Amino acid sequence: MIVGDLNADRLAQARSFGCETVDLTQGGPAEQIEQLLGVPEVDCGVDAVGFEARGHGHDAKEAPATVLNSLMEITAAGGALGIPGLYVTGDPGGVDEAAKKGALSLSLGTGWAKSLSFTTGQCPVMKYNRQLMMAILHDKVHIAKNVNAKAITLEDAPKGYAEFDAGAATKYVLNPNGYLS
Ligand SMILES: NC(=O)c1ccc[n+]([C@@H]2O[C@H](COP(=O)([O-])OP(=O)(O)OC[C@H]3O[C@@H](n4cnc5c(N)ncnc54)[C@H](O)[C@@H]3O)[C@@H](O)[C@H]2O)c1
Repeated sequence: MIVGDLNADRLAQARSFGCETVDLTQGGPAEQIEQLLGVPEVDCGVDAVGFEARGHGHDAKEAPATVLNSLMEITAAGGALGIPGLYVTGDPGGVDEAAKKGALSLSLGTGWAKSLSFTTGQCPVMKYNRQLMMAILHDKVHIAKNVNAKAITLEDAPKGYAEFDAGAATKYVLNPNGYLS
């Protein structure tokens, strides 16, 4: 798996459990993917960013269509895109009039020409719940370690939210009753 982000700490966290990474502050992903795979494309992609995406490169500003356009570019013909990242029908703080109505400047022709499949919407978590629970109980996956989960008290919640908002490579779990060690 190859993880792309602009956040160095999150890329380091992804490498800590065996992912390859591409640093999008260096520009678009194609060239770095080619260095890893020998070709500038992948079989399928996951947009886990959504409408708050920033553009690629150093000091990039919010650019909501970046991840979708970029994934269409780097996914091989016949491939598939999973889009759990959130896209909205209204965003009062959007970067332009179109974005304020949730309209993005998508290169859908790229997706059409490559016969890509798209799946999006609310994640069907109940569908995966049992298998995931069994995989965790049988030590097959280490989700908490992979996302660097940290249990915090209710008093520490504002600090946890602030750190997460600032891009900490940590998922905070509220632990009001101290059940989690
Ligand atoms: N479909 C669902 O049911 C479902 C469930 C959970 C979360 N979500 C959505 O998934 C998205 C991610 O959630 P999160 O909690 O991980 O958010 P987050 O803000 O913690 O993570 C988003 C990451 O994307 C990175 N990023 C920004 N622009 C990028 C770009 N152009 N390319 C690559 N990376 C970029 C940011 O640096 C950040 O690390 C959000 O839109 C959230 O609403 C959807």
